[in-house]
Amino acid sequence: MHNEIIVILGKKGSGKTVMARHMVSDKRRLIVYDPMRQFSSCGVVLVRFEDLVAYISHNRRGHFRAVYQPEIPIDATNDIVRAEFIRMCDLVNRLVNVYFLVDEIDNCLPPRDRENGFFKNMIQRGRHAQVSLVATTIRYTDTQRNLTAQADTIICFHTHEPSDVKYFRNYFGVMADDLHQLPPYHYVKYDKGQVSRHEPIRL
Ligand SMILES: Nc1ncnc2c1ncn2[C@@H]1O[C@H](COP(=O)(O)OP(=O)(O)OP(=O)(O)O)[C@@H](O)[C@H]1O
Ligand SMILES: [Mg+2]
Repeated sequence: MHNEIIVILGKKGSGKTVMARHMVSDKRRLIVYDPMRQFSSCGVVLVRFEDLVAYISHNRRGHFRAVYQPEIPIDATNDIVRAEFIRMCDLVNRLVNVYFLVDEIDNCLPPRDRENGFFKNMIQRGRHAQVSLVATTIRYTDTQRNLTAQADTIICFHTHEPSDVKYFRNYFGVMADDLHQLPPYHYVKYDKGQVSRHEPIRL
C-alpha cells in the first residue's frame, strides 16, 4: 500500500525512533522531518529549507531520501515551531508518491492546536497522491484525532498512560492490558484490523 498511515507509540526510550528508521529503510522517496536530529543516517541531511526544496525538485521524478533538520532555536516560540512544520507539510502536499516521516509529531502538531490545514490536506490527498505518513509519538491521546483515527497500522511499545491504555482497548481488546508489561522493545501491532504481539526487531 502506498498511502498508509503508520503511528508508532511508546514511552520515552521504548524504541520508537529505531522502529521508525526500520519502517522507512527501504523507501526510495522519503522525506524525514527531523528537528531532533535522530535520522542523519537515513539519507541526505539538509538544514536549510531552500536546500531541501532544491534537492527534492532536482530528484522529484526519481529517488530521494531527504532528512530535513531545521535549525530551530531552543527558545523558539510555539508559533515558530508550528510555522516550520506547516512549511514542511506544504512541500509534501506538492509531491506524489512519497513517504513522510515525522518523529514526535505531538511536538509539531499538538492536539489542542487548531488543525493546520496542510496536514489535513495531506491526509485527504494521500489516497490520490500516494502520500504515506510514518509518525512517532509518546502519548497517543496527545496526538491529533484526524491522524490517530485514520491510522492503518499502530505499533505500540511499553506504555502505562491510563488514557492511552483505555483508548487502545478499542483496537487491541484485552491485549491493551499487556501494554504496561511489555518487556523492552517488544511491541503490539494493530494492522488493518489484526492485532499481534512481536519480539524486538533485530538491530
Ligand atoms: N529492537 C531493539 N533492540 C535493542 N535495542 C534497541 C531496540 N530498539 C531500540 N533500542 C535501543 O533503545 C534506545 C532507545 O531507542 P529509541 O531512541 O528508538 O527510543 P524512543 O522511544 O525513540 O525514545 P525517545 O522517546 O527518547 O525518543 C536506543 O539506544 C536503541 O539503540
Ligand atoms: Mg525517539
